[in-house]
Amino acid sequence: MATSPYAPLSANEDRDEVSAGTKTHAPRRSTLLLILPWLISLFMTLLLVKQAALISIAHDSCSKCIWKEFEISKSTTPKTLNRPKQRRAARRQIPLTTTHVKFTGGLKILDGVGLVREIDSTLPAYVGTPSPELDAAWEDIVQPLNVFVTEKELEGDTVGTSPDPETGLYVAMPQGFHDLHCLNMIRQRLHLDYYSAMARMNRTTLDTHIDHCIDSLRQSLMCTGDMTLIRTYWIDERHRMMANFDNDHMCRDFGALKAWLRARDAEDGSTWRESADRLLGELQVAS
Ligand SMILES: *[C@@H]1O[C@H](CO)[C@@H](O)[C@H](O)[C@H]1NC(C)=O
Repeated sequence: MATSPYAPLSANEDRDEVSAGTKTHAPRRSTLLLILPWLISLFMTLLLVKQAALISIAHDSCSKCIWKEFEISKSTTPKTLNRPKQRRAARRQIPLTTTHVKFTGGLKILDGVGLVREIDSTLPAYVGTPSPELDAAWEDIVQPLNVFVTEKELEGDTVGTSPDPETGLYVAMPQGFHDLHCLNMIRQRLHLDYYSAMARMNRTTLDTHIDHCIDSLRQSLMCTGDMTLIRTYWIDERHRMMANFDNDHMCRDFGALKAWLRARDAEDGSTWRESADRLLGELQVAS
């Protein structure tokens, strides 16, 4: 028991008191006094454990981490102390890394030509005259949009959603990828001569969708609030400032995000069953 190291001392005291024969004067140490150091150290230990748990949760929103509240696994508040492991499971599946990315496609003013986009021919084109290559480049970043997630990953927040009847899993799309899909739709809307299927759509329905897309992008950009500075420089001949778009950005590891999504593809007719079974298998292992 916790009080055992103190037992000999207490026994000695008793003996001293007996031998002194002055029992009445010697105030006996109360039980509370004896266990007080133990209570204090127990309290301190509990405090340390709680601090450690809080620090580990704070790591989910630390400066080198990329997940914010409501993303993938949403809670970062101390409320998660009850079930921190399962609540943070999905976060741990995607590396918490960011990469430096130099943005491309900036604008330049060329003498005798005017405004041009700087094109890096080693990178896929996402804008310009539509072509099968251009569509393939978009498909590559947008697909899969719908992915399987488990009820655990939704953290029981299943209001307004229901499981896919065939797999029992939930199907969801990450906001950022929905927005990429939206941006691609807006691009296609500008080229209805090429995108004949879209041109055949009910124009009212199509433009409702396009308006939804523009407004979704607006909210996402306002939400993200990227404050990376696009610097400007002075062009003496033109007597004006020009923006320099070739800036370094700290970006999420898009490849890691894609890998996570591809493993959960709920769209591809040839692989969705496989990805659902794998996820269901992982659930069984975890439980
Ligand atoms: C397009 O859909 C709207 C309802 O969303 C309908 O009122 C309209 O008649 C449709 N237009 C055509 C050309 O079918």
